[in-house]
Amino acid sequence: MSVDLSLRSLLGASLLPPNEARILMAHVLEHHYQLPRSAILSRDDMTLHSEAFAHWKELERKRMAGEPIAYLIGKRSFYNIELSVGPGVLIPRPETELLVEIGLQEITRLERQTQILDLGTGSGAIALAIAHEEPRAQITATDESKEALEIAAMNTRHLDLISQVQFKQGSWYAALKTRGLFDIILSNPPYIDSKDPHLNQGDLRFEPISALTDHAQGLTCLNEIIYGAMTHLKPNGLIAVEHGFDQSGAVVSLMKTAGLHDIQIHQDLGGHNRVVSARK
Ligand SMILES: C[S@@+](CC[C@H](N)C(=O)[O-])C[C@H]1O[C@@H](n2cnc3c(N)ncnc32)[C@H](O)[C@@H]1O
Repeated sequence: MSVDLSLRSLLGASLLPPNEARILMAHVLEHHYQLPRSAILSRDDMTLHSEAFAHWKELERKRMAGEPIAYLIGKRSFYNIELSVGPGVLIPRPETELLVEIGLQEITRLERQTQILDLGTGSGAIALAIAHEEPRAQITATDESKEALEIAAMNTRHLDLISQVQFKQGSWYAALKTRGLFDIILSNPPYIDSKDPHLNQGDLRFEPISALTDHAQGLTCLNEIIYGAMTHLKPNGLIAVEHGFDQSGAVVSLMKTAGLHDIQIHQDLGGHNRVVSARK
């Protein structure tokens, strides 16, 4: 049985913002008919069979209730790759691409095989974006969450990067047995203050709380990662961490106290201080 409503009328009747409705409809068309996104225009008089129609209505309802689009369609683009994502991992953000850029620049500077540590890898975003660009990158990616590591491992297989990325489970450096091994340490840790009202708004309501906040004022994980860098970096090795827009002063202080040098603040495309880097 097919539902006697064209794509054009379903999209026209939707209460979602038009761009969101089109993304969800494109997902339905790909999933049930293996059709490209362009079919929304080229076949706008097509009707959906009952299973596809039920799927569309379910996606529409969930999005109206606030569920993130990336979870509804199960994927998110990041740097030059596409990652599978689900409620067990943070949805990678565009500002985190800054850490990828900093890592790639350092590999180019070193001009050799580079040992990289990605702490709190989530979907594998930072590790896999770098490995995809740079065959000289050898990456150890950690997370405390087993669910996140399963999704990251699946993304690694799909992107055919298993020879460059290995995963370890555990809390920050406790996941490692080595010392002084890494040329680069990168991390986008949970840094939101547990009292920040944004945790109760938008996509954040649906993301794992342990990926967002340190359950304190936001600096606990950054502190642990910055202090451990002195033990785990090679001499002159580089650490770069993402932080909240108002945390760069505190992160610079942590880096100075840890004994790191060449401390630099980097801004994201929105003009916010977003990453601090430093050398051992
Ligand atoms: C902000 S998310 C970043 C995910 C990914 N790197 C990205 O940028 O999209 C922080 C990640 O740190 C992980 N995490 C939280 N506490 C941790 C801990 N104590 N040790 C290791 N990873 C932890 C979370 O599970 C989550 O995947």
